[in-house]
Amino acid sequence: MSDNEIEDVSFLPGESLHRRAVYERGIIQRFRFVACTKAKIALGLVLVVLIIIIVALSATIANHQDTEKSSSEKVIENEKQQTTTLTPVSTPNYTATNGQPFPYHNIRLPHSVTPVSYKMYMHPNISESFFTGHVSIICDVNENTDFIVFHAKGLTIMTIKVSDNSVPTNLFGVVNWLEHEDNEQIYVRLMKYLPKGLKINMYIEYNGTLGTLLHGFYKSSYLSSSNEKRYIATTHFEPTHAREAFPSFDEPAMKATFEMTMIRDEQHFSLFNMPLKVSTKLDNGLYQDEFETSVKMSTYLVAFVVCDYKNVSETTKRKIQVRVFAPPDFIGSASYALEVAVKVIDYYEDYFGVKYPLPKQDLIAIPDFEAGAMENWGLITYRMADVLYDRDTASTHNKQNIAVVIAHELAHQWFGNLVTMDWWDDLWLNEGFASYVEYLGTDIVDHDWRMGDQFVTDALLRAAYLDSLANSHPISQPVSDPGQINELFDAISYSKGASIIRMLNNYIGEDVFKAGLVSYLNKYNYGNAQTQDLWSSLSEAASHAKLNTNVTRLMNTWTGQTGYPVVKVTRSRDKMTLTQSRFLLNTSPNAQNGTPSPYGYKWEIPFCYTTQTEPERPVKQLLTDVTATVDGILGDWVKGNCGMYGFYRVNYDPDTWRGIIRQLNQNHTVFSVPERAGLLDDAFMLARVGQLDYSVALDLSLYLVNEEDYVPWSSFLDSIAFLSDRLESKPVYSAFKAYLLKLMMNRLKTISEKDWLKFENISDLEKYLKAAIIDKAVGLGYAPVLENGRQQFMSWLTNKTRVKEWGQEYGPLAPFCFFNLNVDLKAVIYMTGVMTGDGTVWESVWKRYNEARDDNEKRKLLYALASTKEARLLSRLLHSSLNESEVRSQDAPMALSSVATSYTGQILAWRFLQQNWDTIVSRYGDTSFMIPSFIKSACSNFDSKFDYEDVRSFFEAHDPKSGKRAIQQVLEKIQANINWVSQYEQKVVDWLNKKSH
Ligand code: BES
Ligand code: ZN
Repeated sequence: MSDNEIEDVSFLPGESLHRRAVYERGIIQRFRFVACTKAKIALGLVLVVLIIIIVALSATIANHQDTEKSSSEKVIENEKQQTTTLTPVSTPNYTATNGQPFPYHNIRLPHSVTPVSYKMYMHPNISESFFTGHVSIICDVNENTDFIVFHAKGLTIMTIKVSDNSVPTNLFGVVNWLEHEDNEQIYVRLMKYLPKGLKINMYIEYNGTLGTLLHGFYKSSYLSSSNEKRYIATTHFEPTHAREAFPSFDEPAMKATFEMTMIRDEQHFSLFNMPLKVSTKLDNGLYQDEFETSVKMSTYLVAFVVCDYKNVSETTKRKIQVRVFAPPDFIGSASYALEVAVKVIDYYEDYFGVKYPLPKQDLIAIPDFEAGAMENWGLITYRMADVLYDRDTASTHNKQNIAVVIAHELAHQWFGNLVTMDWWDDLWLNEGFASYVEYLGTDIVDHDWRMGDQFVTDALLRAAYLDSLANSHPISQPVSDPGQINELFDAISYSKGASIIRMLNNYIGEDVFKAGLVSYLNKYNYGNAQTQDLWSSLSEAASHAKLNTNVTRLMNTWTGQTGYPVVKVTRSRDKMTLTQSRFLLNTSPNAQNGTPSPYGYKWEIPFCYTTQTEPERPVKQLLTDVTATVDGILGDWVKGNCGMYGFYRVNYDPDTWRGIIRQLNQNHTVFSVPERAGLLDDAFMLARVGQLDYSVALDLSLYLVNEEDYVPWSSFLDSIAFLSDRLESKPVYSAFKAYLLKLMMNRLKTISEKDWLKFENISDLEKYLKAAIIDKAVGLGYAPVLENGRQQFMSWLTNKTRVKEWGQEYGPLAPFCFFNLNVDLKAVIYMTGVMTGDGTVWESVWKRYNEARDDNEKRKLLYALASTKEARLLSRLLHSSLNESEVRSQDAPMALSSVATSYTGQILAWRFLQQNWDTIVSRYGDTSFMIPSFIKSACSNFDSKFDYEDVRSFFEAHDPKSGKRAIQQVLEKIQANINWVSQYEQKVVDWLNKKSH
């Protein structure tokens, strides 16, 4: 994001000035009264009282008469009665929906009135797609004021009353209210001043649409076993969607308690963050569910669901009730999630040293869900695929993913829910932490997954890739509007956040780290914190343990500036020189390296190295300057970044690289699994930006012939995808294929020797490796694997057809006749089938996609459909992805990104995005975090000037909404790709040609 954008919307002095002007007007008036003579005061008082009475009377009458009118009509009428002395400042941007000036000029709410508790009443009408509600918000008045500003979006407000007691009267005379659409605010003008120190009750009646946008209070549906469409009503509020369901002070630091009364019909029940207190049958046959009062929490964590699900339940060691809710037909797939959740809650209570504070924790599967899952306190919502585990349709990897998502959302119950970031600038405190802790939680579920090793490829290297763009952003990033807030849900907040926490943990040690965390959680519980507060707690713990580490100073260099360093190791005799510099992907002459950093793009690096002479003895050294020297370094090689705990790359002089390569070829296990993954990634990324000769990276990769571990392979396959994309349309591609197949040959041999269908008796990570290698071999068109896959696919396709016929004959026995594919290979087998099949095959798979009920199965089929080579079918898939009855709105981004991965698909996906831009924006909402994902998947991979111009000019003419930063990143990547083709491609071509001879 460029500086301009930040300045456009952040809280500039100009904005604060406006804000102060609004407050001060009141102060000035009161002051004038004091300065008047007594007679004038008496006259003035009489006049004021008269005005108040007249206005209050007419306002009440108007309120009574106007219940049928829309809120905007009413505002206009109320405006006519306006007698207040406020003279609003009018700017073109601050116009209310009714055309009147909107007097409050800041996207952040004022602190003059803040909420203490909400009493909500909700009555959703699911079949008619609307809801009515009212809410009583008890607020503290922190400053004298005659107005209140809160959030609402897309709601029709019928009544607002402000009193100082629990009865909803209009004691303070709401004169009128105005709505500001862009800032999603309501401004309530009062007849009387609210004096500082008062507690008020603001009562609001409103209604809204129960829409199909996947946020706010919305409708979702599933098919019952009798093929009947069943509807549920559910919520998603993070980051700024609570205001779409109820009028609220929708900022994370405006914490309050929540009470809920929900009206529902007999066939449904309702769920809330807290347990049900009492349910009453009403005279009209409906039911009224009342829930217990919540703890003090942020609005974005409120959730409620009305549905007809079933549940399974269990309790934790401390007797917290854990339930998993799913549609009746899916309840059989809910037990894995239950088992994971119970284990992980017990573990976290122990690890954090803080008890889970609610009496229950519900997990619920939602058929239409935009994110993967959402940590609403006590009522976590999930996509079906991320919580329901069906052993016939979910691969081992899917299963691991379910455990990870559950562990992530449960981590938020402490990091995020109990202690919340003060403002979205520090979103990473929530997401970075949960993304770190999810690995610890998942490790408890299944130690064999070696989550610590997988962290390196799944989080660290992923973040390092994004953060090598000048258009990345600092972990702590000023944001103000909902679009910018949504942009922050990216690999920087999540994965870089997690990586720097892991780095710090490793540097100060687990005990000190944990002590700091526990004190942080206890100090800020039920409150909010900023990044600096976390560093202070950890600093205190460090000094308590007599560690000489200034955590704040060290960590500020990681959270306060974009990017990360590469440490260059240069050896001469026994002396080693270490030099840090910022690592950037785009080395083209046109590259712009962003803005100056407060830390000068220098980092305090917890550096660590081992040497060939002492490979078991890591030496730690904090690098605080640009260069440092170390003496007494012996042996063939030095290896930096032990265990890949650091968020930096390491480059070496050519001789040291050669030493490392020799070591890899002799005995690669001297380097740990994460280190091998890191060496591969560093070598290929350094070569990609011209800091290392490509022949070194390519030579290094040759050790993979003997690599048996999934994690380095996964790192390599990710690295090599870039070369694959660049070379796919070039004559050298066959040499490139030969090189890859040669590396993979030993893996492929074990696969064929052991019969590649057999997955028993091998570890889960071996299964991942096997599936990844087969997938790559299919992608490369390797005939034996392709043929095997095709045969299996055909058996699956035809057998199932036959079973269908049998099904009618044999009834209940039919399921036993299915041809069973190995579930870990299903994705690749479906893909092979579609790749090698014709249009008829594609149609059959499309039919299976539409019939499939399980989301993990659907994902696999969708991925397969996108791998057809026929452009017309790819186009068809893209178009169907915007048809809700064919592809759920939640899955459309996946359809687009899968299509865009292939050479043909990429161009089609980009054309499609352009043609349907307006539809996509209106379908997801212009502030949605889905927008960046659409943009990135459609155009990141271009490498020509023509495409660069095409993308640039399209988004010059079309507002990218919450995709502003995504566009800048995409353009930067394309520029880097163009540069790569002109600078480095030939080097790879030369190496490949030399090898193939
Ligand atoms: N808090 C997020 C959900 C969210 C994402 C809300 C984007 C608003 C915008 C949740 O904790 C989360 O991070 N979910 C992840 C899954 C996780 C395992 C990384 C997701 O939705 O992908
Ligand atoms: Zn999260």
